[in-house]
Amino acid sequence: METKILEINPIDPDMDKIEYAASILRRGGLVAFPTETVYGLGADALNERAVENTFKAKGRPADNPLIVHIWDISEVDRLVSFISEDATKLMRAFWPGPLTLVMKKSSIVPDIITGGLDTVAIRIPCHPIARQLIKASGVPISAPSANISGKPSPTLARHVIADLLGKVDVIIDGGACKIGVESTVIDMTVEPPVLLRPGDITHIQLEKILGHVKIDAGVVGKIENDIKPRSPGMKYTHYSPKAEVMVVEGEKGKVVEFINSKANESKCRGLLVGILALDNTKGEYEADKVLSVGDADKPETIAATLFAALREMDEAGVDIIFTQSIDEGGVGMAIRNRLFKAAGYNIFKAGE
Ligand code: TXA
Ligand code: MG
Repeated sequence: METKILEINPIDPDMDKIEYAASILRRGGLVAFPTETVYGLGADALNERAVENTFKAKGRPADNPLIVHIWDISEVDRLVSFISEDATKLMRAFWPGPLTLVMKKSSIVPDIITGGLDTVAIRIPCHPIARQLIKASGVPISAPSANISGKPSPTLARHVIADLLGKVDVIIDGGACKIGVESTVIDMTVEPPVLLRPGDITHIQLEKILGHVKIDAGVVGKIENDIKPRSPGMKYTHYSPKAEVMVVEGEKGKVVEFINSKANESKCRGLLVGILALDNTKGEYEADKVLSVGDADKPETIAATLFAALREMDEAGVDIIFTQSIDEGGVGMAIRNRLFKAAGYNIFKAGE
């Protein structure tokens, strides 16, 4: 299949190009587009064949459900069978934005979207290209992250091109995604509501609106094979680059020392070594490739670069990546969650 690449300026989207991409979606085609979190791979959520092609293009397991994207809050009604007061509060507070609500689905939502579950995940993105595109298409748009399943989510059009060129109809290049980690997912079908995937909207922000919000075990720890996860996506090895990843926790000086000694050991074994550092430690590391993922005191800078950095390590062909752990504050919980998954829970404590 020939993939058309459309450059669109997010500040002032060219409506002819948006309308063209929307017409492809209406015809059952696949269009990758930027959102404020990561790039998504869009299809008409009510067209089963189009949705099936999304799974094929990504190599995604059929039991991992997709998020349905809409452009306006009035579109929720026909997709769900029930909206709780708490759900309404969250929509008012955080939509459009990086929050996905899981609610009981209505009968128009095909089973292929929900992996057979009786719930559906919905969000309104706040990226101008995403919203205009969904509005112009006139249909709800299912959009998983636009990467090959298991790879880090794409935050630049070139990541999408690397994974999906020739497998989708259109890739919209709208520049870098500002947030860089996927939306927060919260299950509103249970009481108290459960945080299934941490993102830019934090647990604290959710609790301010709802009172108590439970954190799913899969957010902070590894899901064992015999436990059925509430969010099917949580059980898959995610965000994994080709290289082995090791996260090192502990006090800053000890972490640097530990990573340098491990990096040196790996070097002696003939491995090409990468290190993910922070702005204030980058100069202290020695390896084949050292990248800073941002400022330790500004976790949003780390969220915005983490996935691109993991991909850059792959492009450099490193065999092993050591990375500092990140504090839990703000979007830090989401970063730790992605990092730990990338590492397959290969976590070390420096100085022990
Ligand atoms: O920021 C985002 O959410 C991006 C952009 C493109 O919007 N999309 C995204 O989609 O990250 P995806 O498919 O990569 O991740 C969707 C997550 C998966 O972990 C999936 O298991 C979960 O949402 N999910 C979807 N429907 C669900 C449901 N009915 N119940 C529980 N979890 C659900
Ligand atoms: Mg994904």
